[in-house]
Amino acid sequence: MKEESFVKNKKIVIIGGSSGIGFEIAKTALQKEAEVIIASRSLNKLKAAQQQLGNVTYEQLDIEDEQAVKDFFQKIGEFDHLAVSAAKTGGGKFLETDTHEAKQLFDNKFWGQFYAAKYGTPHIRKDGSIVLFSGVVAFKHMIGASVLGALNAAIANLGQTLALELAPIRVNVISPGIIDTPARASMNESERASYYQSVASSLPVNRVGLAEDVAKSALYAMENEFVTGTVLHVDGGHHLI
Ligand SMILES: NC(=O)c1ccc[n+]([C@@H]2O[C@H](COP(=O)([O-])OP(=O)(O)OC[C@H]3O[C@@H](n4cnc5c(N)ncnc54)[C@H](OP(=O)(O)O)[C@@H]3O)[C@@H](O)[C@H]2O)c1
Repeated sequence: MKEESFVKNKKIVIIGGSSGIGFEIAKTALQKEAEVIIASRSLNKLKAAQQQLGNVTYEQLDIEDEQAVKDFFQKIGEFDHLAVSAAKTGGGKFLETDTHEAKQLFDNKFWGQFYAAKYGTPHIRKDGSIVLFSGVVAFKHMIGASVLGALNAAIANLGQTLALELAPIRVNVISPGIIDTPARASMNESERASYYQSVASSLPVNRVGLAEDVAKSALYAMENEFVTGTVLHVDGGHHLI
């Protein structure tokens, strides 16, 4: 029996939808017969994603550009759900961290999601929702993740406060653990495989995550009208160990 879809014919905007978790959210939403718009910076990535996904529209957008984010939502008009998985990653020991690079991480993932929530909200229908992205390093302290940990914690806090302020629009935050996505494309294959193996062996679920694991949670947050202000840990138990 086909599972009932609560996003059928709903308009879903996914910033970061050309890759990894965002791409998988787009795919799952399409299977549930939603109307999907993906956005990110690279036209090549967007076109490749559209070729694989089929029936999506795409818009080129740099989420760090406040005016561009404002214009983007003006162009999109009314919609139902927003997911913001756009981010770049980076890390290193605190004392060796270049301050400018640390600020750039905030410009990208913190201020990007801030702009998206701020300028997206006026266009979201009252029974709609926002899904923001934090990450496990906000909840499991790790050497080398001071900046990412702080910014992910800031997002979790922002999302929960917005759940109160933006109601009845629901706001939820997903905190992925270590997920096998193109975010680690700069690592060589054997380096990546041994990193995933070492993480997997420390987790209660004995594996790293797949983008599909996280996409299911994003759709859950959009579809369940009684869920708001939640931080969903989709991390195989990583924050507990
Ligand atoms: N993968 C993990 O292990 C993991 C762990 C913890 C948290 N997370 C979080 O989960 C979310 C999704 O990660 P992912 O693994 O799916 O990453 P990913 O595969 O690298 O995808 C990131 C997406 O963001 C877009 N993007 C980056 N900067 C952008 C900008 N300035 N403006 C617009 N789009 C931008 C990228 O496309 P363009 O390059 O075309 O812009 C791409 O579509 C992120 O918030 C990440 O921090 C992931």
